[in-house]
Amino acid sequence: MSTIFVTGGAGFIGSALVRLLLAETGHVVVNIDKLTYAGNLESLDDCAGDPRHVFSHTDICDRAALDALFARHRPVGVIHLAAESHVDRSIHAAGDFVQTNVVGTFTLLEAARAYWTGLPPGERETFRFHHVSTDEVFGSLGATGLFSESTAYDPRSPYSASKASSDHLVRAWHHTYGLPTLVTNCSNNYGPRQFPEKLIPLMILNALAGKPLPIYGKGENVRDWLYVDDHARALRTVFERGQVGATYCIGGNSERTNIQVVDALCGILDRLRPRPAGRYGQLKTFVADRPGHDLRYAIDAGKIGRELGWRPQESFESGLEKTVQWYLAHQDWVGHVQTGEYRHWLETNYGERK
Ligand code: NAD
Ligand code: TYD
Repeated sequence: MSTIFVTGGAGFIGSALVRLLLAETGHVVVNIDKLTYAGNLESLDDCAGDPRHVFSHTDICDRAALDALFARHRPVGVIHLAAESHVDRSIHAAGDFVQTNVVGTFTLLEAARAYWTGLPPGERETFRFHHVSTDEVFGSLGATGLFSESTAYDPRSPYSASKASSDHLVRAWHHTYGLPTLVTNCSNNYGPRQFPEKLIPLMILNALAGKPLPIYGKGENVRDWLYVDDHARALRTVFERGQVGATYCIGGNSERTNIQVVDALCGILDRLRPRPAGRYGQLKTFVADRPGHDLRYAIDAGKIGRELGWRPQESFESGLEKTVQWYLAHQDWVGHVQTGEYRHWLETNYGERK
């Protein structure tokens, strides 16, 4: 039985990936997570009894802790998702983004390189360092065009600039030291267990609470949406079969304006949970725009389709329906996030209070 490290495995996408690896492979998964506000072990409740899931409460900036984990578990590879991930937070406080996304990725790269250098030749060849990144590193598109693996970097928010920096570090560690790296750049994810400060869960929960649905600017900004389990399947595919040193763009071929997303959500909620006070769409409210708000993201995911045979399984409509149903059926998860109770794990285990 071989071991994989997943960083950020208590987050939204990381928890979906940990669940998939446990269900569909024989790997032991060492889940390395600092449990920031975005880390939630309740998102992995169904994996709690699995002896192949090993949780390590570790900051990726802690080199000594990482060295000890590599020495102890001897992984065949790392899938690196740990990051600060919310653009709005990065606008108000960029420090944590530079620390975790840039310094943390550097620290993890160095720990991985030291471990990899000491492996016997066969294991050195098969080791992989897979860095999970975003399409936001490419900047903003006008009305036409698509991002692809050859698009020049042009990050424009503190979040995307920190992710772009980490992507450059990973590629440099491949070219300079030969570390067998993979990089994926994915479009906006949605689905169960997303922290409710991001557009889709925020709108679902505000609507259910009868609160305004805050749409930035005119709501004309476009994102390409991918269901989180489709992203997890893409990550597994690239980790197992991607070409060393290569980049793969991952997307859902589901471009929608923010208004279209909110209208679709309101339509599903009107059907599944009709509101006596009127249709959910009445709650839409236009608010001040995000500073530097990127207009449009769209991905050409042709390479991963052609070379590795990955395609999304969910349409935007089927994925959105599943997502709304999940939030309706998991009011306990939602309630614990809203009250802060999901952080009790930390207090019980570490006496920390945040
Ligand atoms: P998330 O914010 O839900 O989860 C991030 C996880 O990383 C949390 O569990 C958090 O506790 C952990 N973490 C943060 N700082 C850490 C540190 N210093 N040490 C260890 N753990 C730390 O994020 P997500 O949406 O699941 O995104 C995961 C990755 O995928 C990120 O790298 C992000 O840039 C990338 N990505 C996200 C999207 C998206 O739409 N959400 C799209 C493309 C790429
Ligand atoms: P978000 O989920 O924060 O993802 P990202 O900024 O990484 O694309 O936002 C998705 C889009 O929704 C983005 O164009 C900003 C917009 N948005 C709103 O209009 N209102 C909101 O309350 C939020 C959180 C986002």
